Amino acid sequence: MKNLLIISNWKLNGSKYLINNFINKISHVIKGCNFSIVIAPPLLYLDYMQQIIKFYKCDNHILLSAQNIDIHNYGSFTGEISAKMLKDIGIKYAIIGHADRKIFHKENNDIILKKFTLLKSEDISPILCIGETKKEYQSNQTIAVCIKQINNIIKNLGILALQNTIIAYEPIWAIDNKIIIDPTYIQKIHSTIRNYLMKINCKISKNISIQYGGSVNFTNVLNLLKQQDIDGVLIGRASLDTESFIKILNIINNNYSF
Ligand code: PGA
Repeated sequence: MKNLLIISNWKLNGSKYLINNFINKISHVIKGCNFSIVIAPPLLYLDYMQQIIKFYKCDNHILLSAQNIDIHNYGSFTGEISAKMLKDIGIKYAIIGHADRKIFHKENNDIILKKFTLLKSEDISPILCIGETKKEYQSNQTIAVCIKQINNIIKNLGILALQNTIIAYEPIWAIDNKIIIDPTYIQKIHSTIRNYLMKINCKISKNISIQYGGSVNFTNVLNLLKQQDIDGVLIGRASLDTESFIKILNIINNNYSF
């Protein structure tokens, strides 16, 4: 059975009211599920959400992730937050290299490597987003691009740096879109990535969680998770609406024998 993980990325959305309502409702559902969820609210709300999760006694099932960190641990970098600060408040995951950061903040592989390194030194699991642009997809460069992004970590930090790392394959063209995803196509990309890692380190390849993200919702989640090499999903919009997210959790829970 897979070690299934469901990640909810709130992006620039949320409020104290939504957090209370969301965690209250989700707590009833998640306690009966045999998988965990990771929620990435805006950084400002991480500590608050942590308190609410404890209040509803579901901290065994709901973990928290940052959506981003800075490339420094401290200093004159107004507006930033560091991996050290995340550790200080007990956060276990951080998303790095998300498509939104690549598009709107021009994040490249060097910046992602710096962030990855800082997270590892604080014992925080990176959720490393990889994926190709539409142009790269149309010119059949998907695999080459994904492998290059992973290799940048392996080449600089060694394969063992991928221990306790989550890879999220997120084709940039599929995020925030209305596309129809072909789960068998996504499976092929995931299995190619796993096979590539297998040639370097069998244990890492077997244990690493490879998530899919991009327009996941309650209509497609099951067929995605049924694919052998899709270990979970990173959901944006469909996880923001409490009822829609509960629907997704119930669908997974009622069919969880992947
Ligand atoms: P989406 O976002 O599910 O709204 O496409 C995915 C993501 O945040 O990566």
